[in-house]
Amino acid sequence: MDKVALNKSVLYKCWLNYDRKVNLSEESKEIIKRILVEGESQIIDSAVKELKMAVQNIIGEEPKLLKRTRLPHVFLGISTNDSLGIDGFEIKRIKKSIKILGNNESGILYGVFSFIRKIYTGVDIGNINIEDSPKNMLRMINHWDNISGDIERGYAGKSIFFKDNHIVDNTERINEYARLAASISINGIVINNVNVHEYETKLISDEYLTKVGEIANIFTSYGIKLYLSINFASPIELGGLKTADPLDVDVKLWWKERVKNIYKVIPNFGGFLVKADSEFRPGPFTYGRNHADGANMLAEALEPFGGIVIWRCFVYNCLLDWRDRSKDRAKAAYENFKPLDGKFKDNVILQVKNGPMDFQIREPISPLFGAMKNTNEMIEFQITQEYTGQQKHLCYLVPLWKEVLDFDTFVEGRGSTVSNIVNGSLFERKYGGAAAVANIGDDESWTGHPLAQANFYGYGRLVWDTSLSSEEIAKEWVELTFGIFKEETTIISMLAESRDIYEEYTCPLGIGWMVNPNNHYGPSVDGYEYSRWGTYHYADYKSLGVDRTTETGTGYTGQYSKPIKYMFENLQTCPEELLLFFHNMDYKYVLKSRKTIIQHIYDTHFEGVEKVFALKEKWISLKGKINEDIFNSVIERLNIQIKDSEEWRDVVNSYFYRKTGIDDELHRKIY
Ligand code: GCU
Repeated sequence: MDKVALNKSVLYKCWLNYDRKVNLSEESKEIIKRILVEGESQIIDSAVKELKMAVQNIIGEEPKLLKRTRLPHVFLGISTNDSLGIDGFEIKRIKKSIKILGNNESGILYGVFSFIRKIYTGVDIGNINIEDSPKNMLRMINHWDNISGDIERGYAGKSIFFKDNHIVDNTERINEYARLAASISINGIVINNVNVHEYETKLISDEYLTKVGEIANIFTSYGIKLYLSINFASPIELGGLKTADPLDVDVKLWWKERVKNIYKVIPNFGGFLVKADSEFRPGPFTYGRNHADGANMLAEALEPFGGIVIWRCFVYNCLLDWRDRSKDRAKAAYENFKPLDGKFKDNVILQVKNGPMDFQIREPISPLFGAMKNTNEMIEFQITQEYTGQQKHLCYLVPLWKEVLDFDTFVEGRGSTVSNIVNGSLFERKYGGAAAVANIGDDESWTGHPLAQANFYGYGRLVWDTSLSSEEIAKEWVELTFGIFKEETTIISMLAESRDIYEEYTCPLGIGWMVNPNNHYGPSVDGYEYSRWGTYHYADYKSLGVDRTTETGTGYTGQYSKPIKYMFENLQTCPEELLLFFHNMDYKYVLKSRKTIIQHIYDTHFEGVEKVFALKEKWISLKGKINEDIFNSVIERLNIQIKDSEEWRDVVNSYFYRKTGIDDELHRKIY
């Protein structure tokens, strides 16, 4: 780790690479030479440090930090503008100077990062005048890091927090990470996996807390609160109690004591993330209690300190029986949580995955969004590319997230977008926001695939400002990472089309899965079909897809508001990219493209692979125009993507050819 940190390569610096030329007028250069700061705190220190670092690179000399001056300068301080939201900022030119004013200290830090971003994306700061506030209150990252140093579903090396059942001693890389995260406005971080095993359970014990506190302190100076995933059975495993029953007096007391101790060491501790009664993790069900009982018990312990409980809704029966067609994994979250609406304490937030299944390349939105009007909800995305190519395949995920956030649920008529639900505005909820599973590891580039940095970057930017388009975000990232140059559009377009390409050569029309069980990489059409996990496609010789309608299917569509239910149920209005998610269809059914489903499957799989070859061509056209390390690293991965997309094409096409006996109209090679 040391070596990488010292090396500070372009891959390592990501979008905070200030080491490049920018076009600034002499007047602007004169302004940024001097910095005036009002106030003192860890966060303000970070803001000043960042600004100094950037300015030093831009003008070749360290800016002066002054107490007062009549000369042009940049001023950092707290704003008196009431229209700024929490964490918001304004940047404006006033006479000879530029003022960066935050609604709070974090706002100042975000203002500085924004100011630097403007400079490096070519904005004329001479007349700058902007106001910006986040659309979401909680902007979180969830790490699925185990204390062994392994990362569940991690594709970019080992954990930057843990190694061999310890917390790392050298925190330099964590410090760099805090910078990166703060630069995209992340304000909460869970450092350990939602699956909390034996050793991770101890993170809340005195044995580990001091070290956890050191990490928390690093994040604090960047305006980020630290949270921990906890084991619901901790009172038994750590406390030696006989039960973890949330209504048991001793259990309640035990948690209260524990929480008190945590806050002694980490005064601004964020709270707990909980995966309970899910995939064999312990939870309140064991004691005949429900999720509200479990969450509220923890919430009570955290309440006096301002902490929160983030309770995950990824709860389903993973031992389904395929014979019972009324059972449907997609229905599980709603069935488990909807009846509990209004029963959760104010400092509990339900964290709901974007779709009802599990981070597939395409899913409808989870019907839980908007179904719980009296409960805080936040959305969970997955940046780490578990089902989307594991950072070997290029897959820019911002378009997917954007689609989800913009989706109108109609739960309160038009305008009831997922975005307005999770940001808390639609039902005037106290808390709201987003979390995403990190794609970060100790790989030099942090994300394995250098272009996967765009996903981490894009997540933060989108959650700050959900009105940004995925192209705008891609452009920003490209310019900050590679500089402004003529061929930047090549990279932007590669990012923009990558999700559709990935979808084309993998699972068709919203059906999902078809991956190898366990590692979730590579094709296996029946991989989960005959297992007990309940993720079916029901392909036979005649038809494929899951009937989820209320009339003839699993009844899942009934969990949406009326207009959305009808839209999905009606073949004319069901978005075709989700057709097989909602309907079991004859292979000969003709799509709007005038192709039959079977021909669509063949075509998209052949074309998808061709498009991967085209991606490589595009990338090759950049040789000599971008950093060589990034160039080479991406080529390596594109080669893997070519090979593996060919495998997907062949496996999927052969499968359906043999099932149906229907020839490809173009007589291409199908095994
Ligand atoms: C998926 C993933 C698991 C993870 C789980 C979760 O099933 O494969 O690794 O633990 O989601 O979100 O809890």
